[in-house]
Amino acid sequence: MSCIFAESSKSAPEAATRASLARFPEESLILGSARAYTRNGLEFYQRCERIAGIVQTRFLWKSAYIITDPSAIADVLVRNPGSFTKPYTLRRLKVLFGDGLLTSDGEMWKHHRRLVQPAFSSGRMHAFINVVRTNTKEMIASWRDGEVRDIYSELVELCLKNVTQTMFGIYDDELADLVQALAITCHELMRAVFDVIRPLPFRFPGKLQRRVEQQLEDLNHYLGRLIDRRSREPERNDFFGLLLSGLDGHEPLSRQEILDESVTLLLAGHETTTSALVWSLYLLARHAQHADKLACELASSLRGEAPQESDLETLECLRATVDETLRLYPPTHRIARTVTKPVMVGGHELPTGTDVVLPQWAVHRSSRWYRESESFMPERWSAAFRKSLPKCAYFPFSGGPRTCVGAQFAWSEVAVILGLLAQHFRFSLCDHAPLMPSEGLTMLPAPARLRVKLELRSATASPRLSTVRSMALPGLTCQAGEMF
Ligand code: HEM
Repeated sequence: MSCIFAESSKSAPEAATRASLARFPEESLILGSARAYTRNGLEFYQRCERIAGIVQTRFLWKSAYIITDPSAIADVLVRNPGSFTKPYTLRRLKVLFGDGLLTSDGEMWKHHRRLVQPAFSSGRMHAFINVVRTNTKEMIASWRDGEVRDIYSELVELCLKNVTQTMFGIYDDELADLVQALAITCHELMRAVFDVIRPLPFRFPGKLQRRVEQQLEDLNHYLGRLIDRRSREPERNDFFGLLLSGLDGHEPLSRQEILDESVTLLLAGHETTTSALVWSLYLLARHAQHADKLACELASSLRGEAPQESDLETLECLRATVDETLRLYPPTHRIARTVTKPVMVGGHELPTGTDVVLPQWAVHRSSRWYRESESFMPERWSAAFRKSLPKCAYFPFSGGPRTCVGAQFAWSEVAVILGLLAQHFRFSLCDHAPLMPSEGLTMLPAPARLRVKLELRSATASPRLSTVRSMALPGLTCQAGEMF
């Protein structure tokens, strides 16, 4: 895979160094820093980053450390993952995700992760990319030169289709409706959990709780029919097939475990990639010069086609565009854990029971690691820069054993879709107000729309992409190596 995360996670972590430690300066007696956080969580994280590598604070009674020092982050994720568990906030979401990969810990997590890992192996990447290419071409077949479209919901549908076809071997309207309803419910649960000033005690409001239960029951019925259908078909080693088969020497998964893992994958596997795509198209629309440069690279190498797996390593400008988008708008904008036994982090001992928050949002925008850190500058991602960046100064997919299981697929999916869209269309924004990131399980823009005017890059090009191979893109001829 051609993202810096892969390079970082393979190599051994650098030796631990001592991080600066400070107390958040404006804590109130009762709320601690909860008010500063609820006023603007993203700004709060950036403020902490400017104060020290580790900022000690308190949200009401709950003690927490906001960690932005890359070496201290590696202490949590890579060097000592066994001293942490998933945090209270994520554990509250078990009402929806049960004991799926995202929320479980210990032996159960280890067993399930080993079970599903082959579904994300590099051997399955080729087939996955073909699905992504076909679905993307199908999506843009109806896009016309000069029209105004809200492409947000189309991108949601595309990412959902890619993940369900590849991981479950199916896509239909019923499944799409079920997952989208669950996604809305998930946002409401998150809002309730993260309202730190009024955290809900132990149970969610009755109406919300009943809705979750009903939606999970509906999905369970759907999966039951899918299990029946799959039992009449030859075995497959996609994600769902692996859940049904179980690991040698273990009991097969229960229906509840299959449901938990399915909900987790359906939600984690489409909103994140949608977020990356929405933000990357938004950034391209705002940086027309870079969009032209990218289109030029794509057209000269691909001649109208969608990228293949083998193209992704060599398309420097595409690679840099995806990495820069994930830097500025990481779909998972913070990771959290709870300390389960005393542990050294950044040279300081953290006590059992405290929470640690590792905000990608603030680390990726730190001027310590990124020149003009708030600017969209894909050209910063030279080979030398990638090499010089400390581990965990860039971690959109996390790191260590809890690294995103779908990282390689997700990065490639975003690159393939962007490689086709950016090659064929120029996007201009129709709404003047800037898109604002909204903190949820995934960092999606608010409002949930992306209204753009589409301009076909070739006057002669037909949007019916069955003919794209022969398409020339006039005005976009460029020399190899001209990109940076
Ligand atoms: C750009 C897209 C994506 C980003 C930025 C992303 C990011 C992340 C991050 C940061 C984590 C770690 C969370 C934590 O430790 O608390 C994670 C976990 C996870 N992600 Fe992704 N993800 C993406 C796409 C996907 C896709 C496409 C899938 C599945 C098809 C997926 C499935 C999962 C699962 C199941 C976990 C839990 C893994 C475990 O703990 O074993 N993600 N993701």
